Amino acid sequence: MRTSQILAFVAALPSTLAAYKGFNYGSTGNDQSAFEGQFNSAKALGFTSARLYTMIQDGTTNSPISAIPAAIDTGTTLLLGLWASAGDADFANELAALNAAITQYGTAFTDLIAGISVGSEDIYRITPIGIENNSGAGVGPATIINYINQVRSAIAGTSAAGKPVGHVDTYNVWANSSQNALIGACDFLGVDAYPWYETTKANSIDNANATFWGDYDDTTAAAQGKPVWITETGWPVSGANSNEAVASVQNAQTYYDAVGCTAFGEGINTWWYTLQDSGSSPSFGVVGAGSPPPTTPLYSLSC
Ligand SMILES: *[C@@H]1O[C@H](CO)[C@@H](O)[C@H](O)[C@H]1NC(C)=O
Ligand SMILES: *[C@@H]1O[C@H](CO)[C@@H](O)[C@H](O)[C@H]1NC(C)=O
Ligand SMILES: *[C@@H]1O[C@H](CO)[C@@H](O)[C@H](O)[C@H]1NC(C)=O
Repeated sequence: MRTSQILAFVAALPSTLAAYKGFNYGSTGNDQSAFEGQFNSAKALGFTSARLYTMIQDGTTNSPISAIPAAIDTGTTLLLGLWASAGDADFANELAALNAAITQYGTAFTDLIAGISVGSEDIYRITPIGIENNSGAGVGPATIINYINQVRSAIAGTSAAGKPVGHVDTYNVWANSSQNALIGACDFLGVDAYPWYETTKANSIDNANATFWGDYDDTTAAAQGKPVWITETGWPVSGANSNEAVASVQNAQTYYDAVGCTAFGEGINTWWYTLQDSGSSPSFGVVGAGSPPPTTPLYSLSC
């Protein structure tokens, strides 16, 4: 084949094969068996990756999160997270837990790493709308860059060396040119975008798909060529309205079919929000209550 034919052939290969497809998982109250139950239910639904927010097991100072042995046992890949908004001493504990996990579990762990996110929505929380929404403590881009450099140093020379290191934030943070230095320091950008919460826009379900991809495209345009991963999005099955956005199983299905299926079809790494969200309002869970989570979804997850 001529080069042009080979390139055309390569371009025609499905890119979906390599993409990560998962859910987001909190740490509170989860031991290894709880994580295993969640990962197995997610796997039964076709979601084989887990995004975490912290390296630290709930209730400990700096022991590695038990999602790691659960991921090893269930063959679940991991978008690791280090919480970055609680000060330098807490970040040192996140790093200690990462180091301990690499030592303790070796390549059984590090082979599963999709990426390492330093922080989650830290900058959003200190923007005017983050403050207005009482979203909690955050930090600015200089702190995240410093912590990214600490993670790169920590994994250098270990079996996790070379794993992509980046940051997760909201689309409006990424689209702000004041983040250019941070973007330069990232291997990937994780974007959280919820048309549901975009109450200053006409945010009915009818506009949601276009709004989401507008957010995604704004992030990609700012990304300096770095890959943009979808780290959180979803639509609630229940809860009070959010401007024009109505929570319902039907609308969650419509959103998933449009946004989720497009993302999976295009081979974009995606961690959906979320597997189970019982007791929350709005509730974004794709399955209802139960431990382990049920494997029958509230709406069809096939594309
Ligand atoms: C962009 O970032 C700057 C500096 O942090 C901030 O002052 C400004 O409000 C941001 N703009 C928007 C639209 O968030
Ligand atoms: C935060 O507050 C603003 C202004 O009230 C609102 O438009 C926006 O949707 C809120 N964002 C979130 C994520 O709750
Ligand atoms: C959702 O938007 C994407 C990107 O523009 C488009 O490719 C897709 O067809 C849309 N899906 C629906 C159901 O409108």
